[in-house]
Amino acid sequence: MLDTLEAQSPDALLALIKMYAADERADKIDLGVGVYRTDDGATPVFRSIKQAEQRLLDTQDSKSYLGPEGDTGFVSGLMPYIFGSDDPDMGGRIGGMQTPGGTGAVRLAVSLAKQAGARRVHMGSPSWPNHVQILGDVGMEPVLFDHANPDGSANVDALIAAIESAEPTDVVLLHACCHNPTGVDYTQGEWERIAAALVANGVLPIIDSAYHGLGEGMEEDVAGMRTALAAVPEALIAYSCDKNFGMYRDRVGAFYVMARDGGQLDAIMSNANALARANWSMPPDHGGAAIRLILNDDALVQDWQDELTDMRARLRWVRETLAAADNRVPGLDLAPLSSQHGLFAILKLGKDQIAKMRADHGIYMAGSGRINAAGLTSSNIDKFIDALADVTAG
Ligand code: LMR
Repeated sequence: MLDTLEAQSPDALLALIKMYAADERADKIDLGVGVYRTDDGATPVFRSIKQAEQRLLDTQDSKSYLGPEGDTGFVSGLMPYIFGSDDPDMGGRIGGMQTPGGTGAVRLAVSLAKQAGARRVHMGSPSWPNHVQILGDVGMEPVLFDHANPDGSANVDALIAAIESAEPTDVVLLHACCHNPTGVDYTQGEWERIAAALVANGVLPIIDSAYHGLGEGMEEDVAGMRTALAAVPEALIAYSCDKNFGMYRDRVGAFYVMARDGGQLDAIMSNANALARANWSMPPDHGGAAIRLILNDDALVQDWQDELTDMRARLRWVRETLAAADNRVPGLDLAPLSSQHGLFAILKLGKDQIAKMRADHGIYMAGSGRINAAGLTSSNIDKFIDALADVTAG
């Protein structure tokens, strides 16, 4: 039976990690998979996580099962940061559960929407490549529209048109902030238009928040999403702690439902629990437990926030430096990078130019032209700009 399986090409982003590792050049630059890096090129464990993990090691007295919902203290502890400290459960309308990473949360959101009758998902293109893979795997049809305008701003008109054209069994997938792969986010005014269109057309949003805190700030990065949530009757939210707690390989995420009224939450969450049980039974505990300890300790929260503030400042420096180098690379428009957010940006390079970046300069970026800005440091950013000038010359 198994000989009927045809070989699949490896995930392009993950394949890039291997290609980079095999390159022996000392001055190679990795701008591929989305991990944060310091100016020394390291991806350290957060100081607050180290302390919380030590505390966990000292105090955890059982690893017995918790259940499909995972660590409920972790799930509720994040809610003030996501939904606001004034009313973190939006009047008792929000329920949530822990998931294996943001990917698990996206999978759960899409599966639950399907179980509720959804068939198609409107989404901006490009998007995180795994979004389309998850939709295909769950049996949902993606309906694509252009996410960004050629000038590097968001094409909100295309999104509004998609919402207005939606059929009753359609949902829409939105990125909360730090859009992956473009870095192009909606402005607050655009979120207000989006919220009004969702309400007018009765379309359920699935909002993916994978980079909370890496854009403008903890409050700023979710302001648009909160505007939408304040307007729409119901929503599904996928949340990742991979980047903003640096927990990548520990796979820490959360899935939230905002229901029309609190009375519906039990029924909705019982479906989410059943889907989780069939998919992964229970989420891995360690990362969620460590984050719960941070969220319950004011000093650790402060240290976590301080580290995020430093990360944002570094990403801003990379973006400003690239934008200021616009005139050194006449073949590319680098100026919009300063008004975009998060780890990623798309550079309009052709396949040959991306291959030349790799072959001639040892610079690894996704085939889409996406760069992970965090891979650029004070010691390699000049080399990168010169390489861009080289591959775009003539
Ligand atoms: C990325 O887009 O690079 C990250 O979200 C990592 C991943 O899992 O693809």
